[in-house]
Amino acid sequence: MLIIRRANLDDAIDVLRWRNDAQTRAMSWKTDPIDPANHIEWFTAAVNDQAKILLIGNFEEKKIGMVRFDVCAEDIHIWKVNIIIAPESRSQGLGGNLLTHAISFFYSKLPEALLIAEVKKNNTASQNLFERLGFLKAEINGEKLEYKHSKYKPKK
Ligand SMILES: CC(C)(COP(=O)(O)OP(=O)(O)OC[C@H]1O[C@@H](n2cnc3c(N)ncnc32)[C@H](O)[C@@H]1OP(=O)(O)O)[C@@H](O)C(=O)NCCC(=O)NCCS
Repeated sequence: MLIIRRANLDDAIDVLRWRNDAQTRAMSWKTDPIDPANHIEWFTAAVNDQAKILLIGNFEEKKIGMVRFDVCAEDIHIWKVNIIIAPESRSQGLGGNLLTHAISFFYSKLPEALLIAEVKKNNTASQNLFERLGFLKAEINGEKLEYKHSKYKPKK
């Protein structure tokens, strides 16, 4: 069974390893390896930041990945969603499972929010993941695909 929980400082080193993996870097907008000291500083701030929600997935007692939501500075109703699965846990359906749980948790807190995902054109696994969960491709900008998702239906 997959369980999600808020990230804490004990997760910092695992997340650094997942983030500095070659495949993750290739699919990220900043491809340079992250320096451990900078990462610890960023992670410490991030887990305490009201403008972020960091969720860790555990599957059969193993830590398998993280979903991060970041509020957009320009509009507090818009949040960017990002997912990373531990390299050893990829391509087993866990990304879809984790993202489903994380999004359901997110909307339970922020039902009126709009979610955005920015995915590289060559990141087929990630595109499949967001499309399967009902995200709509909204914009194509160079190598970036933007997906949107919302549950909110304004009352007429
Ligand atoms: C992208 C990522 C989150 C997907 O998670 P995952 O657990 O590996 O993916 P899943 O096993 O749940 O599969 C998701 C979909 O991608 C497909 N897929 C899985 N691995 C794939 C691969 N290596 N190449 C192409 N497609 C792949 C699956 O078939 C599935 O498609 P389907 O829903 O049509 O069946 C994960 O690979 C990852 O962390 N990659 C590095 C970081 C990253 O790219 N993050 C996303 C940034 S936008």
